[in-house]
Amino acid sequence: MLDTLGIALIGCGTVGGGVAEILLRHGDRLASRAGRPLALRRIVVRDPSKVRDPIIPKELISTDHAAAIHDPSVHVVVELIGGTTTAKKVVLDALSAGKHVVTANKALLADAGHEIFEAARKAQRAVCFEAAVAGGVPIIRALGESLAANQVTAIQGILNGTSNFILTAMAEQGMTYAAALAEAQKLGYAEADPTLDVDGSDAAHKLAVLAQIAFGVAARPHEIQRNGIDTLDAMDIRFADELGYTIKLLAEAWTGEVEGERGRQGEGESKSGRRVALHVAPVLLRHTDLLAQVRGAYNAILVHGDIVGETLYQGPGAGRGPTASSVVADLIDIAVGRAQCTFAAAQLWSKANKGFEIEPAERVRSRFYLRLLVADKPGVLADVTRILADEQISISSMVQHEAAESGGSPVPLVIVTHYAETGRFKAALAKINRLASAAAPAVFFSMGD
Ligand SMILES: NC(=O)c1ccc[n+]([C@@H]2O[C@H](COP(=O)([O-])OP(=O)(O)OC[C@H]3O[C@@H](n4cnc5c(N)ncnc54)[C@H](OP(=O)(O)O)[C@@H]3O)[C@@H](O)[C@H]2O)c1
Repeated sequence: MLDTLGIALIGCGTVGGGVAEILLRHGDRLASRAGRPLALRRIVVRDPSKVRDPIIPKELISTDHAAAIHDPSVHVVVELIGGTTTAKKVVLDALSAGKHVVTANKALLADAGHEIFEAARKAQRAVCFEAAVAGGVPIIRALGESLAANQVTAIQGILNGTSNFILTAMAEQGMTYAAALAEAQKLGYAEADPTLDVDGSDAAHKLAVLAQIAFGVAARPHEIQRNGIDTLDAMDIRFADELGYTIKLLAEAWTGEVEGERGRQGEGESKSGRRVALHVAPVLLRHTDLLAQVRGAYNAILVHGDIVGETLYQGPGAGRGPTASSVVADLIDIAVGRAQCTFAAAQLWSKANKGFEIEPAERVRSRFYLRLLVADKPGVLADVTRILADEQISISSMVQHEAAESGGSPVPLVIVTHYAETGRFKAALAKINRLASAAAPAVFFSMGD
């Protein structure tokens, strides 16, 4: 048997605690899979006086990053503290000390991928990050290894379990957004400050990581257009349901080579001929769509490959066990030596890797759901349809309920369009919002079919 692989855990909270437990409880299983023992040698935390799982040996715990990183019996540093400041320093220090790195930190990869991966290549060490996207779902390996014969043409993912939990509760139990968020917080699915989950930022970080692997594109999070679910009105969930649709927060990547009408269209390619549009937004999916049926805090990713066709990956996207399971899989890959080979071959976040260019999501063609609150008087509908027609957008269907008894108060008007380019649709939207009859800004979503 090969020598023991020594591990330092920097961070021992939800995920780090789970990793420590697997390493300490399942040593024999891991050694047989890795062909060598995996030993937890150091644990670094912020507050060493905190009460932790009794299985964790107190003598391993300290607050000393440098001592853990430079310990000669440590071969891999596992960064599980989160954030982008101390975490980045820990990762770069570990690489320059000649240690492999495992991290679950999508924000750090999306923010500083170039710097970290160049440092790893220079140090001839690997950085593994299966847990950074969709927790326990092996999407990083699927994209980077199992689908390696393909050019991915599109990705559609439910990448934020908190948002999916809230949307499921709103749709199935008729909850308001605020009540569903409170329930998510009570059950531990949402942080006390849920902003990054519900405003689409977390999904954008994860999409940036997937886009690097699938398209070689180094998208900074701010380059990804995003709308979250934090402004979603329960009224739209009800109207969507009436029309036969479920609203899901999707992270999507579109090249110009997608089959079917929805997606970025191929004409007008760049010189390299390869562009991808990236966005995160609530999308209306038919109740029967595979992704529409992903409920609660689960994640799922639909990947379209040019050879394989469509494949779907689904599972728990967060939490102690699922995320720690992916971290430990990375540790086994390093112990076996697989990770070092795939890391060197993949050239991720490399300036030498000429990936796709990012294209604004304005080029994506979609059908749209448009909900207006308008004064209930003659001529309003004519104004709206004329503005849409001016942008060559035709209407597929319309829903308007009878005005309330009180009369005179604004009424919701829901319009579903045929396919249109997002840019043209948004131009029409701006004009509609300027109509004197518009009682509130129009609300719109893409339709997934
Ligand atoms: N939670 C999930 O389900 C999940 C899923 C996928 C990815 N992730 C990612 O995994 C990472 C960790 O998340 P988590 O949920 O496990 O976080 P967490 O529960 O808040 O744990 C963070 C840990 O880091 C320690 N820590 C914080 N600042 C530190 C510092 N400056 N020096 C040393 N230790 C420090 C904390 O110490 P104390 O224990 O002393 O406070 C704690 O042990 C994040 O990047 C997150 O995005 C999490």
